[in-house]
Amino acid sequence: MRVLVAGGAGYIGSHTCKALAEAGHVPVVYDNLHTGHRWAVKWGAFEQGDINDPAALGAAMKRHKPEAVINFAALAYVGESTREPTLYYRVNVGGMLTLVETMRARYDSPEAASRMRDTAARYALETFGLTEEQLVCMAYSPFAEKASGLGEFLGREHPALAGRAADIRALLADHALDDPPLAAELLRISGLELSRLRVLHGRSVRRPDGGAGTDAGTEVIGAVLAGDPHKAVIRTRLAPGGPHTLEQISGR
Ligand SMILES: NC(=O)c1ccc[n+]([C@@H]2O[C@H](COP(=O)([O-])OP(=O)(O)OC[C@H]3O[C@@H](n4cnc5c(N)ncnc54)[C@H](O)[C@@H]3O)[C@@H](O)[C@H]2O)c1
Repeated sequence: MRVLVAGGAGYIGSHTCKALAEAGHVPVVYDNLHTGHRWAVKWGAFEQGDINDPAALGAAMKRHKPEAVINFAALAYVGESTREPTLYYRVNVGGMLTLVETMRARYDSPEAASRMRDTAARYALETFGLTEEQLVCMAYSPFAEKASGLGEFLGREHPALAGRAADIRALLADHALDDPPLAAELLRISGLELSRLRVLHGRSVRRPDGGAGTDAGTEVIGAVLAGDPHKAVIRTRLAPGGPHTLEQISGR
């Protein structure tokens, strides 16, 4: 698959290009080299341009005909973002909009959309062994936390099953219950066997360890940082000539 990687000359983007190439895909980097490096573009073609320049973006898409786009083109310094918020909105939010609008201008026809959808579905199946329906289910996490999100999930995605929410809850909660047709239906929409759904049912969405902390968000970030071999505190300046400050960075 040909993949346009915006911001592909940066830290995360260049590693993504490497991983894409190793997986047999063809990355094309689109980057203005604001913080990225030309030498970091090693796994495919390079197009120098700004994420907010629709003409240059459109020309790059026309030349390389990507089937997928991944965006890492961003300004990513927390400290600087508090002093230059409009600049950050312009690149991080505005740039994403420009990218999406440029993609739409090129691909937004019923035929192109259906072709891209088939490509994405095939990729998800080959790579993760998941159907589109199962990926959507993952985004909802409807079975975790005692199936607290089940009603919304069924109502929106599987209205035909909405009337069976109580049966599903009972099947998840009571390990002695057996209902092979319903379990088969749950396997089809989630990709998970009943035994695994029952494990999820007893877990929190946010805290994989199911611990009893008070601030789930902080716990997860803390856990990621604690286990990150690339984390470090660096001495940096947030603006050219500005005062030195310490900033914690993470490789993840
Ligand atoms: N590094 C991390 O630990 C980490 C963790 C989580 C999320 N992220 C996110 O991933 C994204 C990339 O982060 P990174 O660490 O690779 O940063 P980076 O600065 O190394 O990469 C950003 C890339 O975007 C390019 N870029 C910036 N503005 C651009 C513009 N206007 N047009 C085109 N290209 C532009 C830069 O030249 C650079 O190559 C950011 O959104 C960041 O918040 C990073």
